[in-house]
Amino acid sequence: MHRGKESKRNELLQKLQSKIPEDLLSFVPQHWWKIGDILILTIPQQLMKFKEDIGEALLTLEQKPLRTVLGKVGPTKGIVRTPSFEYLAGDVNTETIHKELGCKFKIDAAKLTFSPGNHGEREHLLKISKENEFIIDMYSCVGNLSLPLAVHKAPEKIIAAEINPLAYKYLTENIILNNVESVMKAVLGDNRVILKEFEGEANRVLSGYLNSDDEQLELAIRLCKDNGVIHYHEAVPLADKENPIIKINRILDKVGKDRKQITKRRVKKYSPGVEHIVYDIQI
Ligand SMILES: C[S@@+](CC[C@H](N)C(=O)[O-])C[C@H]1O[C@@H](n2cnc3c(N)ncnc32)[C@H](O)[C@@H]1O
Repeated sequence: MHRGKESKRNELLQKLQSKIPEDLLSFVPQHWWKIGDILILTIPQQLMKFKEDIGEALLTLEQKPLRTVLGKVGPTKGIVRTPSFEYLAGDVNTETIHKELGCKFKIDAAKLTFSPGNHGEREHLLKISKENEFIIDMYSCVGNLSLPLAVHKAPEKIIAAEINPLAYKYLTENIILNNVESVMKAVLGDNRVILKEFEGEANRVLSGYLNSDDEQLELAIRLCKDNGVIHYHEAVPLADKENPIIKINRILDKVGKDRKQITKRRVKKYSPGVEHIVYDIQI
């Protein structure tokens, strides 16, 4: 992901000097990121009135290819994780193709999530996964975590579940766009229903959703075969660091699975005092 650099921010401040009162200029964001040719930045409350000015300024400032600027104006919402992105400047068409890790991710950047902060996790999965695995992605979105594995790791099979019809549409398109139809299959629906038939079959289960419940963690464990691994994501308040491990052990006991090892990895800061953590559960 591209991030705004100090010099770029200075240029942005210069462009905005005539538009934004001096005492508010310090609220102008220091960072922004790109998905394909779409730039996104968080708009602080204090600058809501000036969001289109910021969009226009960035459109002329950032290097091409840049087509559209979107502003994050609120939290990501609901089960399907709809971002609160508003159109600020440029082309109103927010569909783009984001290129990362040798893959093409077609996505409507205004309506679906593709977190730049999860890049390290996408890269990490590529490093640790082996060839010939049966991989289940329980929360696929447009293929964010599993598409690179299909493209680079010669899996036996990837089953990619997604409940949101719009994300599923792009997921199926991305499978074709990346020429991985022979190894990766998208399935539409609630993973609690549509993945049951794969119990005990997967070498690797990706549970990349921070709002999953105990039933879904139990399903993730049931999907995994012996000597397999579950990558279970959770948003963890720093004060409760040990709680997820206690929960994972309780559910492993309930399912009657032996565990070899549970390790954890920090993905990113999620919100003040809360971290996005992945637990690797080896069974
Ligand atoms: C936040 S995105 C994460 C995408 C990806 N795993 C990542 O880490 O970048 C979570 C996705 O899970 C999907 N989802 C949520 N509940 C689901 C369910 N019960 N079954 C299948 N997909 C679900 C949402 O629609 C959304 O696209």
